[in-house]
Amino acid sequence: MTVILERMAIRDVLRMGHPLLREATVPCDPAFIGSDEFARLVTDMADTLHQQGGIGLAAPQIGESRRIAIIEIPGGPSRYGELQSLPLTVFVNPEIEVLSPEEGGYWEGCLSVPGLRGFVERPQHVRVRYLSATAERQELELTGFYATVFQHEFDHLDGRLYVDHIKDSRLLVFEEEYERYYAEPVED
Ligand code: NI
Repeated sequence: MTVILERMAIRDVLRMGHPLLREATVPCDPAFIGSDEFARLVTDMADTLHQQGGIGLAAPQIGESRRIAIIEIPGGPSRYGELQSLPLTVFVNPEIEVLSPEEGGYWEGCLSVPGLRGFVERPQHVRVRYLSATAERQELELTGFYATVFQHEFDHLDGRLYVDHIKDSRLLVFEEEYERYYAEPVED
């Protein structure tokens, strides 16, 4: 009996300083969404995200200048309260519309800025329009932590990193110091 192993490719994640992370990405032609190349890219992104252990990844982070991001949020208790889970979802050509300018702050981290956390304030009520992995038009309205996560991921598609939004540079810290001095314990 022949065992066929699924192809799996974990890609290198570009780190802050790589010029590609600072470039705006190219929107995807809807015809590209059905292609083998698209399927391969999204699979590589998912494999890389799972290996690195984050909640989101944008195509430029693995060196592909395409307007694609993936987000996967595990549900359950967290330091941001009880989170509703979001299964791995692919966002093609996403656009964000701010529905309320009211901001809320979270400590953000990024696979492209390893070892650091920064406190960032962003609008807490947004609408997202995007194409799904099957090229269907979709719309989502997001609040709170979810609004922050989506803005962080889609910023990558415009060449922005969370550090660009830090207003108080004292609130950019190493993960270990974050855990020691700033993290609130998770209640369950
Ligand atoms: Ni990031």
